[in-house]
Amino acid sequence: MKPLIQKLTETFSPSGYETAIREAIRAEVEALADEIRTDPLGSLIVRKGTKGKNGKRIMIAAHMDEIGLIATHVDDNGFVRFAGIGGIRPQALTGSRVRFVNGVPGVIGTDRLADLTKAPALEQCFIDVGASSKKDCPVKVGDVCGFERPFLDLGGRLVAKSMDDRIGCAVAIEALRALKETPNEVYFVFTTQEEVGVRGATASAFGVDPDVGLAVDVTGTGDTPKGSKMEVGLGKGPAVKVKDAGMLADPRVVEWMIRTAEKAKIPYQREVLEGGSTDARAIQLTRAGVPAGCLSIPTRYVHTPSEMVDYSDVQNAVKLLAALLSKPVNI
Ligand code: CO
Ligand code: ZN
Repeated sequence: MKPLIQKLTETFSPSGYETAIREAIRAEVEALADEIRTDPLGSLIVRKGTKGKNGKRIMIAAHMDEIGLIATHVDDNGFVRFAGIGGIRPQALTGSRVRFVNGVPGVIGTDRLADLTKAPALEQCFIDVGASSKKDCPVKVGDVCGFERPFLDLGGRLVAKSMDDRIGCAVAIEALRALKETPNEVYFVFTTQEEVGVRGATASAFGVDPDVGLAVDVTGTGDTPKGSKMEVGLGKGPAVKVKDAGMLADPRVVEWMIRTAEKAKIPYQREVLEGGSTDARAIQLTRAGVPAGCLSIPTRYVHTPSEMVDYSDVQNAVKLLAALLSKPVNI
């Protein structure tokens, strides 16, 4: 799976500009799907199976977009000011490299800071693309970029930008590959614009109209020095979300996930995340309401250019997702 993870995480597609990642994912799933379409907001909808007598229509959502920056102003000397797309952490900006969707690379600098012990505000940061005037600057207002950082294989642990949520995309692709027979009608939806408020999933969940929904996304951990008080850690299995800041997972979905993991002897962790949410929230609240939950990949340093996952958690997430989808669902 590592070459796939590398390929997906080294693709640049901030929210709203998912064409490159959609084409990369389409190339992976084309031969595995019964039907593929792209919806009007750009989400890639991949169907496998048809709804049999005991089957359910299940939506699996993994978001394709990533956090990024958008140019708001270019000054006379060619320096680019910007705003965030999604939750940007200013303390991770200085010295970072970015790449615009049009291919232009740049580095992030800051104004002279009065207090070097504090993180700069977003408006104290700028992108230097090597220009010397507004005229020769290849970036214009409204251009977007993602963070540039190569994939790093530490053996058991993998580091990359946009593990959030290309790792979820990789898990969904591999579960689709592993899913030979299913009584269910499964829609693997690679959604757009999650990082700006689960917008792609809001539209695609309405269109798919599922009986049950699951997001596959990253979650935080509490296993780093002086980390947050959170039970989830790397290497202890994928996490079954019970609650986050935007959703109470349906207890029947939680129960289905845990029962399936225990039966297949797949390690898992119970997750309560106090900040953030996922596409599962959009699925849960669509139409008249849908039982929904989330399979989470424990991830350190979320929303920085170096997000870390454990490879065994990723592989166990694929196993658990394939097991969940291959049998009738009694909810
Ligand atoms: Co995110
Ligand atoms: Zn995410």
